[in-house]
Amino acid sequence: MFNFTATPPLALYIHIPWCVRKCPYCDFNSHEVRDILPEDHYLEALLADLDQELPSVWGRTLDSLFIGGGTPSLFSASGINQLLSAVRARIPLRPGAEITLEANPGTVDQARFSGYREAGINRLSLGVQSFQDGLLTAIGRIHDGSEALAAIRAARRAGFENINLDLMFGLPAQTTAEALLDLRTAMDLQPTHLSWYELSIEPNTWFYRHPPARSDDETLWDMQQAGAALLHEAGYERYEVSAYARSGRQCRHNLNYWRFGDYLGIGAGAHAKLTDAARQTVTRYAKIRNPRSYLETAQRGERLDSATPLSSEDVILEFAMNALRLDAGFTAGGFCTATGLPINAAAGTLAESIARGLLEREGDVIRCTELGRRHLDELLQYWMTEEPVDARIRLG
Ligand SMILES: C[S@@+](CC[C@H](N)C(=O)[O-])C[C@H]1O[C@@H](n2cnc3c(N)ncnc32)[C@H](O)[C@@H]1O
Ligand code: SF4
Repeated sequence: MFNFTATPPLALYIHIPWCVRKCPYCDFNSHEVRDILPEDHYLEALLADLDQELPSVWGRTLDSLFIGGGTPSLFSASGINQLLSAVRARIPLRPGAEITLEANPGTVDQARFSGYREAGINRLSLGVQSFQDGLLTAIGRIHDGSEALAAIRAARRAGFENINLDLMFGLPAQTTAEALLDLRTAMDLQPTHLSWYELSIEPNTWFYRHPPARSDDETLWDMQQAGAALLHEAGYERYEVSAYARSGRQCRHNLNYWRFGDYLGIGAGAHAKLTDAARQTVTRYAKIRNPRSYLETAQRGERLDSATPLSSEDVILEFAMNALRLDAGFTAGGFCTATGLPINAAAGTLAESIARGLLEREGDVIRCTELGRRHLDELLQYWMTEEPVDARIRLG
């Protein structure tokens, strides 16, 4: 079925599942710290978790590492130092590997940033969301605009030059002018990367049960187009639905997901996807989600994950869900390397999507048209059903 000649690049994601307060829009596996943060216990559990994974990645090297959450910046610099040292002792990191930590502006100061830098973090991702106090209050953030600015300046003084800022638009009652003002404020600070997300209302969130007033879809689309143009003028090129970067500063860790590379995931609720070229299998893993059960299971020395082998249909769909987010799309060769399948395995679906004007093919590159980008969810519907190989287009 699969025919992998080599394994794809490998990344490591480490999940820290606690926050000071749960934001009303957030459906990530993040939990309010109720009493004391169990930093030491969790670090032990993470290493037990990583030790369980080692046999599946013997001989492989990490290209990137991402500590996300939740709020990883709740962890002390010495805790992050211990964690990175322990990872390095177990799996080789490629020289110059990208090592990112997500930080919340309400939980940091310069000393903490300096400590993270000394520990080996070389990229920061700051959850700014907006610089406007009213909007920050409306989305339940623990920081205000001046704390966001102070955090960015402190990160710079600590020596970080590779910085991503997370911003959101489509916030409650937010106007296009306010959204663009946030982008201008962010760009004045010269980050290397900007993630600009449209607020999505997810089931199991406070906002789902109490929907805030928001602009209609048409206005949100216009807001996104206006923002993308502004970012482009300032030298931030969009390379994924919500990701903009200065030249050469795309997030390598996220690019690996979108190119359907392999990744290990440790921590409560973390996911992993691994290719075994010797056995010709692709397997998805999910870790125990609840932080307390995760900690208890690790303490008992039991396995923390469940594994699901992927079929070729699963692999094609998951590849599409990732690769079609990229503005650059993918090539037939990239598809084969990442999925272990010939491009003709997706020929029917490709033909259908091209015929409907959702995808385009230019030379060897297959990517979304503007219509496809606007209707990405509908486009992926075609990839969820098996289509017969269509002889109308020749691929390969
Ligand atoms: C994994 S979250 C964690 C980052 C960090 N905990 C924080 O919020 O500051 C990464 C980013 O996803 C974005 N995000 C989270 N929930 C979202 C939602 N419902 N809609 C749009 N973006 C969201 C936010 O910009 C957030 O900074
Ligand atoms: S700080 Fe980030 S991870 Fe935590 S609840 Fe808010 S959005 Fe979610």
